[in-house]
Amino acid sequence: MAALRSSSRILSSSRAAFRPSAVFSRSMASVSETEQPRTKSFQIYRWNPDTPTEKPKLQTYTIDLNKTGPMILDALIKIKNEQDPSLTFRRSCREGICGSCAMNINGQNTLACLCRIPTESASDVKIYPLPHTYVVKDLVPDLTHFYKQYKSIQPYLQRDTPAEDGKEYRQSKADRKKLDGLYECILCACCSTSCPSYWWNSEEYLGPAILLQSYRWLIDSRDEHTAARKAKLENSMSLYRCHTILNCTRACPKGLNPGKAIAEIKKSMSIGA
Ligand code: SF4
Ligand code: F3S
Ligand code: FES
Repeated sequence: MAALRSSSRILSSSRAAFRPSAVFSRSMASVSETEQPRTKSFQIYRWNPDTPTEKPKLQTYTIDLNKTGPMILDALIKIKNEQDPSLTFRRSCREGICGSCAMNINGQNTLACLCRIPTESASDVKIYPLPHTYVVKDLVPDLTHFYKQYKSIQPYLQRDTPAEDGKEYRQSKADRKKLDGLYECILCACCSTSCPSYWWNSEEYLGPAILLQSYRWLIDSRDEHTAARKAKLENSMSLYRCHTILNCTRACPKGLNPGKAIAEIKKSMSIGA
């Protein structure tokens, strides 16, 4: 409790320190209120499972960009708060960490919280759920199968040999570096749902996101189940339905390269490494 009290004192003193900028933001707000409105329209995919006989449709909403944050997620939140509380979408972190706001914006799979509202043209922004997914409601895709596939690759360290010191499984800096570009994946599914092979074979083909995750464990120097992991991929569907189309790499909002990860798995399978 003492610690709590002292931190609340720190908070109140920092509030005082920030007072000048609070005045500044108030004056900014009054300036923006006098500005000409900069309207932007958003055509958003709507479908409600409670009225399943009604076909999906695009619904148009118009907002003033002067009174909206810069990102597509800001626009969606504003529309939901001020115009239509029934509009449904997922979001949590609003900074590209949780992966839950993945959707198709102007034809591109991406994260709504990392995607700026385009201001260079007057055309409407079109927003759909991730393509070729079953829709739970509006912009929310059903990722049950995607997560099932993730579980199938056993995404955790598997070893039979105990750690030398009985505590930690260590690895060299060089081996740790091999995980860069893989561990950052947030499982947003932007890549898998942009892959034509995954669209047509998603029941059996694992798709780029899950294969990148699979490679993350295959390449981990501490894991001892490499052979068993590879044996599971040794069939015509799980891995080899990748035809190097590379939409996945173009789509990844985290700048990762699932196409390369898949190529590395194929290479290691072919040389038995
Ligand atoms: Fe998302 Fe990129 Fe991971 Fe694919 S590789 S799931 S696009 S973060
Ligand atoms: Fe699909 Fe990427 Fe392969 S788009 S076909 S997973 S390279
Ligand atoms: Fe978490 Fe967009 S809200 S990634």
